Amino acid sequence: MNIHLDKFKTEGYLGPFKVYDQSYFSSLLQERYIPKKLYTWYKSPHEKSEGIIQLATDKNILEKLKNVLNDNILLWGSLFVNQKPNDQAAYHLDVEYGSWNGATVWIGLKNLNKKTSLSLITYSHLLNTAPAELKKKINLDCNDDQAVLKEAKKLDSRCELKTFYLNPGEFIIWSGRIWHSTLNKSKNTRQSIILQYCTPDNLVKIPTNFDYPDTQWSKTKPPCILISGEDNFNYNKVLLKENIKFSSKLFQKLKISILYNLRYKMAPFYHKLKEIF
Ligand SMILES: [Fe+2]
Repeated sequence: MNIHLDKFKTEGYLGPFKVYDQSYFSSLLQERYIPKKLYTWYKSPHEKSEGIIQLATDKNILEKLKNVLNDNILLWGSLFVNQKPNDQAAYHLDVEYGSWNGATVWIGLKNLNKKTSLSLITYSHLLNTAPAELKKKINLDCNDDQAVLKEAKKLDSRCELKTFYLNPGEFIIWSGRIWHSTLNKSKNTRQSIILQYCTPDNLVKIPTNFDYPDTQWSKTKPPCILISGEDNFNYNKVLLKENIKFSSKLFQKLKISILYNLRYKMAPFYHKLKEIF
């Protein structure tokens, strides 16, 4: 077993590492303005974003992924995460991984520093429960690092809290079921992106709630992209990255930077006006 796979399987994470090419990050960030209604579900902006495909196939990311998933790899989920100052994402397990296995890559894009953290509990991917379930059962405070760690340790004494302060362009890979949390104590909105991968022998689905273990699933098939190797299973709706057609580069860039950007920034005002009238 290679050392990466060994650590990934036991402790549940790898990294931090650096993305090979960061030259397109500013245009990638523009693509978060692409309206959600243009893609199938909130975790599939990769259907419409050339930048996400470029990042998902970054040389360094792929090299590390192949160590843990081997050659045949689907990108099943992607999500830009804008975390505002003082926001915390409480400890959780991404509900999708309650149903199938895979790896999540968390990549810092902009405004990352010593006040913007990402934490995970090692070995928690091997536990047969999740913070949300413990909240229901014992009223666990999922925002409290030490309380979450204490409960995890009761189930497996090897569990440890790891907190990372990444720089833009750095990434961590974790086994899908790892319990994780993020916190922004800085004065700026932190921009990051998660990319989620699995092997083609997993059946990928769209959750319609965030309950664990009582997750409900949509009948709509989520679009995945074959980023490496082959799919010999045909369980999923798979797009080949070569077949994804983007509009002409200049037209697409103008559309994103002017039209979608304006729409994205005006959305909060529009919703406020709707509330008033
Ligand atoms: Fe998450």
